[in-house]
Amino acid sequence: MGIETADDAGVYLLTDEIALIQTVDFFTPVVDDPYLYGQIAAANALSDVYAMGGRPLTALNIICYPSSCGELETLTAILKGGADKIKEAGALLVGGHSVEDREPKYGLAVTGLVHPAKLITNRGARPGDRLVLTKRIGTGVITTALKADLAPSQAVTAACREMATLNRHAAEAMEEVGVSACTDITGFGLLGHALALAQASGVHLRLNAAAVPLLPAAEELAASGLLPAGAYANREHVAARVSFATGLPQALGDLLCDPQTSGGLLIAVAPDRLNRLLTALSHRRVTAAVIGSVTAEEAGRITVVYEP
Ligand code: CO
Ligand code: CO
Ligand code: CO
Repeated sequence: MGIETADDAGVYLLTDEIALIQTVDFFTPVVDDPYLYGQIAAANALSDVYAMGGRPLTALNIICYPSSCGELETLTAILKGGADKIKEAGALLVGGHSVEDREPKYGLAVTGLVHPAKLITNRGARPGDRLVLTKRIGTGVITTALKADLAPSQAVTAACREMATLNRHAAEAMEEVGVSACTDITGFGLLGHALALAQASGVHLRLNAAAVPLLPAAEELAASGLLPAGAYANREHVAARVSFATGLPQALGDLLCDPQTSGGLLIAVAPDRLNRLLTALSHRRVTAAVIGSVTAEEAGRITVVYEP
């Protein structure tokens, strides 16, 4: 499986029992604390393996760092954050590569394994499926506000905890129950990634904006215009294929396009498995919300309704 359906990772079938999952992700710092940044970057990179239903096996560090910076402690803290997340994921750090760069960047190339029969792609959503989201939305807005010193501390704390959380337990719950399709929510925002899933599966999605879980203060910050540039680009990108209900608050529509760092999993699950999935998630202390459903209307499009 390659790049045709813009899935979360590449997959290579090794034997009838083993498929290899490969993915890479790295980005500039989203928070000041270097250890936390390392954790978030690693959790984000590992997430694409979880989104495919796999488990990460090995990871390689990718580092861009200014040698003029002189502060080796900062770099050490970033790498420690990443290494701790890799360990928490049960994977092994086996190497890496660094280049000099003016702006720091960090992330991982990750290799994972999955049984081919258990591979979860973004192509499998079917009409009738319900849509489940496992992390709250708003990290783009909150980290933008943080840079302007306008983010309430409790919002920052919640966003950081969420971004550093592995999607491992959510993936284990998916494996236990069996689901139709999955993708993780990252830079293209909830609507961007949901649309990719709708297009790959050839289905229509109906999302209830009022059911989408939001991080504290995210809606207020979005309403005051603290949107990252990526939110506008994302909104433009999906505009032709998404219809928004009249009466939907502008800030809420914007948040559906807010680029997420290390976001949750968007899961399509058959209706008769929904309750089992929600139970399996809550047993693992994964907070999840049912945010919509898959329909047989016009394929490759999304209708956003607003039903509080
Ligand atoms: Co992804
Ligand atoms: Co990715
Ligand atoms: Co090298």
